[in-house]
Amino acid sequence: MTGEHRAPFAALDGKTPEDLFGGLATPCYVIDEGQLRKNAALLGEIAARTGCRWLLAQKAFSNYDCYPVLAPYLAGTEASGLYEARLGFETLPEKEVHVFCGAYREQDFDALLQYAGHIVFNSPAQLAKFGPCAKAAGKQLGLRINPERSTQEGHEIYDPCAPGSRLGTTRAQWERQMTPALIDLLDGLHFHTLCEQDSDALEVTLQAVAEKFGDVLPRMRWLNMGGGHHVTRPGYDVPRLERCIRFAQAQWGVTVYLEPGEAWALNAGFLASRVLDVTENGGVKNAVLDCSAACHMPDVIEMPYQPPVFQACHCERSEESVPPASEDANPSTPLRSAQDDRSNVYRLGGPSCLSGDVIGDYRFDHPLREGELVLFGDLAIYSTCKNNTFNGMPLPQIWRRREDGTLEQLTDFGYREFKERLGRRIVQPATPPRAR
Ligand SMILES: Cc1ncc(COP(=O)(O)O)c(C=O)c1O
Repeated sequence: MTGEHRAPFAALDGKTPEDLFGGLATPCYVIDEGQLRKNAALLGEIAARTGCRWLLAQKAFSNYDCYPVLAPYLAGTEASGLYEARLGFETLPEKEVHVFCGAYREQDFDALLQYAGHIVFNSPAQLAKFGPCAKAAGKQLGLRINPERSTQEGHEIYDPCAPGSRLGTTRAQWERQMTPALIDLLDGLHFHTLCEQDSDALEVTLQAVAEKFGDVLPRMRWLNMGGGHHVTRPGYDVPRLERCIRFAQAQWGVTVYLEPGEAWALNAGFLASRVLDVTENGGVKNAVLDCSAACHMPDVIEMPYQPPVFQACHCERSEESVPPASEDANPSTPLRSAQDDRSNVYRLGGPSCLSGDVIGDYRFDHPLREGELVLFGDLAIYSTCKNNTFNGMPLPQIWRRREDGTLEQLTDFGYREFKERLGRRIVQPATPPRAR
């Protein structure tokens, strides 16, 4: 059976999930600091060779207790708005704080100036509205451009270059709205067009950036190439990335920033869960887990994303019944191949009311039992920062696995976190009112 040797489980070092996490209450996330450092060191080597500057996009990974592992390789953090900017500032005070938001709110902006050193605007109108006061406060300003070159298919939700996109300023918008005074406010340009892509897609994007904005780039101090660079996945073309960085540096004399989120924490986290029940309906075996796709790994439904499972492989969903053993023995029934054999295929789902709260169909090498530990890999990113308490589902505790193998609980979530998101916290009277 597949499993242990795959990249998402490399951090287990051949040990079983039960050996390592069997003592933890489930569901829980475990962030692996050894893997975080491996990812970060690779990014650090690229910075050392090219002079590029790496930012951590906190929208993907913001478990700040682990930031010290990443810190030696980081120029700073990237935020999507006020709260992430504040988090970056508070937790890595010696580093740069960059922020990009689709549109800033007036009531946030003064506070934002306390935390962010680099502020990137999405449109000339937002630059005109907030730029002068940000500049007067000594900030570096940028404009997000849209090079209008899609490099991904079938992923419109993740394609900022899709027709009609609201993200980034196109050259036509620039021509219509950018005045010389607005251009003078700018220190840099920013683009973000990729999602889990290799550097060939960056190369194509950069060509479009050169065609559309090559004339204005020499006036800039920096170019931020956004996120979506899957640098730490096996097989990523690092030399091509380095050529892209060097091309921008040489062509336009800019400092190059990159702000991936995923690449920092790729394959550096697990979600440990246990089987609560196993049911069978029309030949489909449902394993109901104590974790939920909708609540604890929302990208499974949104993106969609298929997380790897320890010692199991994902297989296509099939509604076909598995013939009972006696029918199987019928000589007229063709022999089923291992691929067709769905006897140990389970549809992993959550305990919520949502029928679509399904992680997927997975083939195990044994029948699943109630209480068994099911370990999902690659769940440090877009998970702990994206989860929710739908159905009153508890937030899983977050643990860190230090580089020496010890485990530390980082959170103490309970009923309070569920309740406080929904309304005013009603302070319980010291003595409960007496029933009349
Ligand atoms: C502006 C911006 N920067 C950086 C990122 C991080 O991307 P990733 O986590 O795919 O590297 C995103 C993701 O949506 C983004 O929108």
